Amino acid sequence: MTDGNIISIEGIARRYPAPGGKGKSTTIFENLWLGVRRGEFVCTIGHSGCGKTTVLNILAGLDAPSEGTVIVDGQAIDGPSLDRAVIFQSHALLPWLSVQGNVAFAVRSRWPDWSAARIEEQARRFIALVGLAGSERKRPAELSGGMKQRVGIARALSIEPKILLMDEPFSALDALTRGTLQDEARRICMETGQTTYMITHDIDEAIYLADRIVLMTNGPGARVAEIVENPLPRDRARTDLYRHPSYYPLRNHLIEFLVTRSRTLRDAPADGWDPRHPPVVRPGAHPELVPGEPSLHSVPNALSA
Ligand SMILES: Nc1ncnc2c1ncn2[C@@H]1O[C@H](COP(=O)(O)OP(=O)(O)OP(=O)(O)O)[C@@H](O)[C@H]1O
Ligand SMILES: [Mg+2]
Repeated sequence: MTDGNIISIEGIARRYPAPGGKGKSTTIFENLWLGVRRGEFVCTIGHSGCGKTTVLNILAGLDAPSEGTVIVDGQAIDGPSLDRAVIFQSHALLPWLSVQGNVAFAVRSRWPDWSAARIEEQARRFIALVGLAGSERKRPAELSGGMKQRVGIARALSIEPKILLMDEPFSALDALTRGTLQDEARRICMETGQTTYMITHDIDEAIYLADRIVLMTNGPGARVAEIVENPLPRDRARTDLYRHPSYYPLRNHLIEFLVTRSRTLRDAPADGWDPRHPPVVRPGAHPELVPGEPSLHSVPNALSA
């Protein structure tokens, strides 16, 4: 795959044997290729069951592909690693440890040789970064859902992972908290140049956060139908997105995909569809693309911005 990618997914498949070992196995997806550039924020969208979490678990080293490999920073993945931090939908904190204790635990696992003072300092820094300074001594049971999720984010970032993997991290939160955490996640990832791979069902979340959005068709036999380059400027504000002329073309394109093309493109891929090079589109940033009329054309000359 192209150089310069910190993540290189190379022809992976995931199959499950038929129940009882009899009959045909189920192919969740196969021949899946994707590269993620260093510092890039990639979101994946697709219907329930298409294999998004499976791909993320393979990236995390928690699951293994039936075929193919994944290379992270030049090395094939062969199990979990502190180079890759995962934020799940539920925070998975250790209930008997304080906020400080939960984050320090991760820091100590990453750098066992560090002094206690240095570990505490690193933990404190990331707790402050997610806006929880002053809550270090609280235990998870004393925190709101949004605060727990912040601790999860602080813990993931405190080990300074090469890649951050997030599986619908904000979906269980109320809209207000979700918005605030999206702002924080974006700010931190931009400031630290964090490479991030995130799954979401929320189109506006993907539009706000992602540099590129990977569109997966329905499963079984899911494919990467298309990769959408976000035409919005990198310097963007969540509350102003809708003012940008590309916002509605982009949003309509994603909705149209989920409503119709996620199904039709699984059954019959677009002409010339190549699993190694799925079409790249940039809705709203090209004269050929009319709002509400998604295009299947690849638009390579629109990608240089
Ligand atoms: N242990 C298993 N045995 C058989 N099938 C499995 C197993 N684990 C997952 N699957 C199947 O793999 C498919 C992909 O699951 P996955 O969790 O990756 O979907 P997803 O895209 O993350 O969905 P959601 O949006 O609902 O989270 C599903 O159809 C699921 O039923
Ligand atoms: Mg999932």
